[in-house]
Amino acid sequence: MIGVFDSGLGGLSVLAAVARELPRADLVYLADTAHLPYGDKDDAYIRRRVIRIGSHLVDQGCGMIVVACNTATAAAVAAFRETFDDVPVVGVEPGVKPAAAQSRSGRIAVLATESTARSERLAQLIRHHAGHVEVRVEACPGWATRVESLRLADPEFVDEARRHLAPLLAEGVDQIVLGCTHYAFLRPALETVVDGRATLVDVAEAVARQCVRLAGAEASGEGRLTLLASAQPERLQAALPALGLGWLGRRLSTPVNLVLA
Ligand code: DGL
Repeated sequence: MIGVFDSGLGGLSVLAAVARELPRADLVYLADTAHLPYGDKDDAYIRRRVIRIGSHLVDQGCGMIVVACNTATAAAVAAFRETFDDVPVVGVEPGVKPAAAQSRSGRIAVLATESTARSERLAQLIRHHAGHVEVRVEACPGWATRVESLRLADPEFVDEARRHLAPLLAEGVDQIVLGCTHYAFLRPALETVVDGRATLVDVAEAVARQCVRLAGAEASGEGRLTLLASAQPERLQAALPALGLGWLGRRLSTPVNLVLA
């Protein structure tokens, strides 16, 4: 069984990719909705939450864990790996490396939560993989919460996205990294703003391929999906069709359970 978690709905973009690559794996998704957003919390807070969630998922029988959250990966994946040293852990980090490799203008941007934007881990990722390009890091407060309320493409958001992206596009940025798993669900609105001038880079597929490499016996199950949430479980299930993931909902055998509340 593979455990996947995030602060809320964002990690469903990763879960969907994992479910496509590993159709027979039994999957458990935990949304820490009682504590979202993670992006405005300090590292110690995020670390406490992810260790708590990891313990719960391992107790449930998960033999592999996917931290489907850039913010949790940046703040806590090292502590997480130390704590669960016999369980393979796959983290999610902004796609700085592919963006830098694909850029023709030599300018890329990373959109992320405040916590990821200021993290040493992102700074390191940029130093290691994007030394030859200019990188703009843009914190996007409120965007994850917007996804939670399913306000994905209202005119107010398109205006806000334009305020963030227009200066980057004017500077010649041609690769925009979606450095928060929630932002995958804002892609249609962001594409409207970008209007073909840049590529939006998301790593969900690459993360799913990494899961295939590490899954071992966890890849073979009955293709069951269990959804868990630390608050408002009914909202998680109801959100699936709105996010274009109704097909995932059909793999559910039980209603969403409330855990860790
Ligand atoms: N989806 C998460 C990420 O990838 C966190 C969003 C939040 O809770 O602030 O960063």
